[in-house]
Amino acid sequence: MGKESLFRAVKGMNDLLPAEAARWQRLERSFAETARLHGYGEVRTPLVERTELFVRSIGETTDVVSKEMYTFDRHDESLTLRPEGTASAARAYLEHAVHGREPVTRWYYVGPMFRAERAQRGRYRQFHQAGCEIYGDRGPGCDAEIIDMLRTFFGELGISALDVRVSSLGGREARTAYRDRLVAFLEPRASELSELSRQRLVSNPLRILDSKDPGDQALLSGAPSIHDVLTEDDRAHFDGLRRYLDALGTPYVVDGGMVRGLDYYTRTVFEIRSDAGELGAQNTLVGGGRYDGMIESLGGPPTPAIGFALGLERLLLAMPSAGPEAHGTCFFAPLGDRATEVALGLARDLRKHGVRAEVDSRGGSLKSLLRRANGLAARLCVVIGDAEVERGVAQVKDLNEHTQDEVALDRAVVILADRLLGSAITAPGGVA
Ligand code: HAM
Repeated sequence: MGKESLFRAVKGMNDLLPAEAARWQRLERSFAETARLHGYGEVRTPLVERTELFVRSIGETTDVVSKEMYTFDRHDESLTLRPEGTASAARAYLEHAVHGREPVTRWYYVGPMFRAERAQRGRYRQFHQAGCEIYGDRGPGCDAEIIDMLRTFFGELGISALDVRVSSLGGREARTAYRDRLVAFLEPRASELSELSRQRLVSNPLRILDSKDPGDQALLSGAPSIHDVLTEDDRAHFDGLRRYLDALGTPYVVDGGMVRGLDYYTRTVFEIRSDAGELGAQNTLVGGGRYDGMIESLGGPPTPAIGFALGLERLLLAMPSAGPEAHGTCFFAPLGDRATEVALGLARDLRKHGVRAEVDSRGGSLKSLLRRANGLAARLCVVIGDAEVERGVAQVKDLNEHTQDEVALDRAVVILADRLLGSAITAPGGVA
């Protein structure tokens, strides 16, 4: 490997430079606010867990566990970079015995996940999810609330053309019955299946539904549906979900063929897709569902649970590009030492009002300073020369309006803040 390629980011893992990071921050803030309004508190878990946690919860034969995990040994333990957040959150929920303290728990998280997938637009090896998990609520009220919350959130972000898909995978009983039916259907046709699906017919037949092989998919089009074997309770749960969604006016499509890539799901599953913005083939923004058996399978008490995760990269691709920042920057162009002293003090006082201010104290020419102010898309440029300091004034250029006027230095902070924030300003700590 040449020197150049050695010092490139790892394939499928991206740097975020400040201009783009600002969009991320806005998105993360609005997600956190939406979650807070719905009663979720933030949980932060380590990026690394014992490999066994993911094997047990996500399922050994899933693509994620069998092919995509970043796993390594350290101090005689097999550790893995988390490929998703649900297993880690469940581990933390159990480890801290949260179930013993509160009947219902609502957590949200935002952070990087790692899967060694084939990288392409919208699919990365380090990607970022924002997710929510609810423990202790059997639903289907909270199932509907989650789906409606997401639809509203996407609407607020300006993402249109949403395709909301819901289904039920039933509980343990229905899944066992379905597994048997599917095997009975596929076994006589096993020779027509792809190599991988033939293996799965023995190891985990339900995963065959996930096959990308066109021949498998053609065969599966005649396969029985999981909806045929739902128990009465499963069906009542699913009917309840649909009733609540209808009552909320949330459009959705029932998609009996939906398969999620993780083994832990029971009953409600859903995905939201969109063709908006620059999303390509990877157009699933969110995946989620119920996993009523996971907490128990990890050694806890029987605890119903549901959650979702959305891909932040995909959301940003789907979102319309953001408008300019609500309030512009105030750029200071001091020409000389004394002017720099004054500018540093004014900028500090302006920031106390919440104004973004930047002083360019490199000592350049007025022309180069103005070029920089324009490059930063600053709203105001405050030019102060030593002569202005003598007279106690500064020249203020409005770079949007292309106007210029002179303001007194002792009134400059209030005047500039007022122009940038567009409302009457009082001294910090003062009463408006
Ligand atoms: P998932 O469907 O594997 O579910 O991922 C959820 C979302 O994460 C996807 O819809 C997508 O937006 C994003 N995503 C997944 N893989 C990648 C990737 N390689 N590159 C970019 N984005 C990606 C889960 O992870 C479950 N933990 C969701 C959940 C929470 N279910 C219950 N609670």
